[in-house]
Amino acid sequence: MKRFIAFLLILILSFSFAACTNSTGQKDTALNNESMKEENGNSTTNDEKNTSSSTLVVYFSATGTTKPLAEYAADILNADIYEIVPSDPYTEEDLAYYTNGRADREQNDSSIRPAISGGVENMEQYDTILLGYPIWHGQAPRIISTFLESYDFSGKTILPFCTSHSSGIGSSDSNLHTLAQNANWLNGRRFAGGTTKEEIAAWLDEMGITPAKTTSVAVFDFESRTVMLNSGYEMPINGLGTYSLHGDECINSVKSALSSGVRLIDTASAYGNEEEIGQAIREAIDEGIVKREDIFVITKIYPGDEMANPEASIQACLDRLNILSRKHS
Ligand SMILES: Cc1cc2nc3c(=O)[nH]c(=O)nc-3n(C[C@H](O)[C@H](O)[C@H](O)COP(=O)(O)O)c2cc1C
Repeated sequence: MKRFIAFLLILILSFSFAACTNSTGQKDTALNNESMKEENGNSTTNDEKNTSSSTLVVYFSATGTTKPLAEYAADILNADIYEIVPSDPYTEEDLAYYTNGRADREQNDSSIRPAISGGVENMEQYDTILLGYPIWHGQAPRIISTFLESYDFSGKTILPFCTSHSSGIGSSDSNLHTLAQNANWLNGRRFAGGTTKEEIAAWLDEMGITPAKTTSVAVFDFESRTVMLNSGYEMPINGLGTYSLHGDECINSVKSALSSGVRLIDTASAYGNEEEIGQAIREAIDEGIVKREDIFVITKIYPGDEMANPEASIQACLDRLNILSRKHS
């Protein structure tokens, strides 16, 4: 049978919308009050943003030790992330322990429930929740109790983790269980500050917590003319097809399209123009027309020799395009 078109492989070479990723690359679903204030110049709440993930990483981190671990977990699991932000932020003085300061007093009174700014709007969509906190006098900070008493966790799996100076997780996690008894609690783990992403990945693997399964069906939105890829990135449906473009005409067309707002460029090894496409994109980046992370480039390999050795063929496409260098990323 004659195979006119065999669209075997689409290489999505750019997945990152700067606006959609944070420094660790995971979906940024928790909007931190302070950073949002800085970016937007106004006040906003620390609400979680709704995505299709079924896993939520929740954390409280007063001095920034627990935070990266939560971010690693969210990144590894492709999960949403939500930071518990106190309505009344803790000052250095509040956190100075054994001074009878605010944190000490809160830990000494199990009935205290510090208020949280913002919240998780779509808790019902999550079936697994990782809950990270620092150890304060052997226990979770009282604000974790506030969080647990704010939602119905029936039927959800909760996996606690904590950081501390030296203490273990102790009874902190089992005490939390009493606040959400209908949840399926897994044994928690204490981590030292500076724990690596690999260590978090190994722990999650050991606990049987796996990355959210991606749907095999891409979701098209014909109003915004985008398609939600399995990776979670939203790619324009319409772009510039470059089948007949070569040489300067190709370079100028691609740059012109990018200047006009086109964010998807489609090529293929068989078009014989990947090098020109790459050159146009590098020039567009150097000239400040686009940022690498703002655009998508599709290329394809074809049946026959290329499919006989797909990895090498894909690498050859990447080499011809040459748009993955640090300078242009
Ligand atoms: C009020 C308070 C009490 C603490 N109590 C303990 C403790 O009992 N055992 C311990 O090893 N570390 C203790 N620490 C240290 C924190 O658990 C540790 O620095 C943690 O990693 C901080 O996490 P964070 O930076 O995410 O807030 C305490 C810290 C504070 C502020």
